[in-house]
Amino acid sequence: MNAQETKTLDKRHNIHSWTVNDTLDPLVVERAEGVYFWDAAGKQYLDFSSQLVNMNIGHQHPKVIEAIKAQVDKLCYISPSMATSARSKAAQAIANITPGDLNQIFFTLGGSDANENALKLARLYTGKQKILAKWRSYHGASMGAISVSADPRRPPVEPGVPGAVHFMDPFCYRCPFGLEYPSCNLHCAEHVKQTVEMESADTIAAIILESQTGGPGFYAPPPGYMERIREICDENNILLICDEVMVGFGRTGEWFAIQHTDAVPDMITMAKGLTCGYVPLGAVAISDKIMETLRSKYLFVGLTFNAHPVSCAAAVATIGVYEDEDLIANSKHLGEVLLSRITALMDKHSVIGDVRGSGLFACLDLVADRDTKTPLAADKMQALKTTLLAQGLSTNLIGNRLFIGPPLIITEEQLQHGLDIIDAALTTI
Ligand SMILES: Cc1ncc(COP(=O)(O)O)c(C=O)c1O
Repeated sequence: MNAQETKTLDKRHNIHSWTVNDTLDPLVVERAEGVYFWDAAGKQYLDFSSQLVNMNIGHQHPKVIEAIKAQVDKLCYISPSMATSARSKAAQAIANITPGDLNQIFFTLGGSDANENALKLARLYTGKQKILAKWRSYHGASMGAISVSADPRRPPVEPGVPGAVHFMDPFCYRCPFGLEYPSCNLHCAEHVKQTVEMESADTIAAIILESQTGGPGFYAPPPGYMERIREICDENNILLICDEVMVGFGRTGEWFAIQHTDAVPDMITMAKGLTCGYVPLGAVAISDKIMETLRSKYLFVGLTFNAHPVSCAAAVATIGVYEDEDLIANSKHLGEVLLSRITALMDKHSVIGDVRGSGLFACLDLVADRDTKTPLAADKMQALKTTLLAQGLSTNLIGNRLFIGPPLIITEEQLQHGLDIIDAALTTI
């Protein structure tokens, strides 16, 4: 089938997400390898976003493909009430890399349902209902996950699931309180304490937040924030759930972004980098302490494809690749190179209001005016995206933020080449 036939059939029968289908003109992609993919015309693109911050080990890694094939030959599917070696090994591999005593793993199909199940388990454990989450947050598109999210993606599908309460973000560049770190004395964390008091602690099951915020801001909280949130949770019998769907698996230079802090959550939710999209898988890692109580209760959670053997086999192989190729260290090292280069770009391009980065996860906050921090207009962002793509660089632009999140296997030369393309494209706006 040629590219035009693919597009014609696609338009006739496929529904694409997060877009106006009438106006979409999708790229027809033929193949991919490592940090590159190629369209049907043979044009090469450097993948600077790892396809929705997902393919941390790069495209078509032979070890993961081999593991999937071997599992398919042996056992494609079995009911989640059974045990399989793939599932046991995958759970052990996750327990080995998560902090603290997060040794109990509930498998899902992706990030949204990982969060849904974490929230249900928090309600079952605490016997309380409300969930606190940040205003700048995205925890998934399913009804429960989008209900706790506070993002332009929520209002169009409301009313959602009741019980979500939102609090202001620990976002220093655009501090909602107009304060500056460190003289602010972490006012943003005290605001969470006040929110807990006003909502009444005995109605709140959990606080869910990304350890570092991805799509809705691309920023890390200020030092001490996560530790203070941990204390607030402990003082009020509230569970702390860290959503690491986007920032987990080495993206920020640690296995999990929470490991940049001294806080240990009660649950970590993950997906994306767990199997890097080769096959779908998500998971909730739960502490031994929480599970000690939950073990004796009937668990009202379940999915037909829970702990899918093929996905679990892929997860074991994927975690093996991170370890064998030292990808967490590569993310940390090249993250420093990346941050220093984009910081230098600020001297050249006044359109860059702020740069933020942690490991191979960075963003340029683009503004019309540095003093007012007015976000760059949508048409300019779209023009920038078109220019980048024409130059063979594929990345995400979300709101006024240009995102950089290449596969963790990227070399310094490939990284610098991508940054050269961004540098030149910024000159055009
Ligand atoms: C932080 C975060 N949580 C949850 C999700 C939802 O994951 P999924 O799309 O796999 O359901 C996403 C997706 O981008 C995410 O970034």
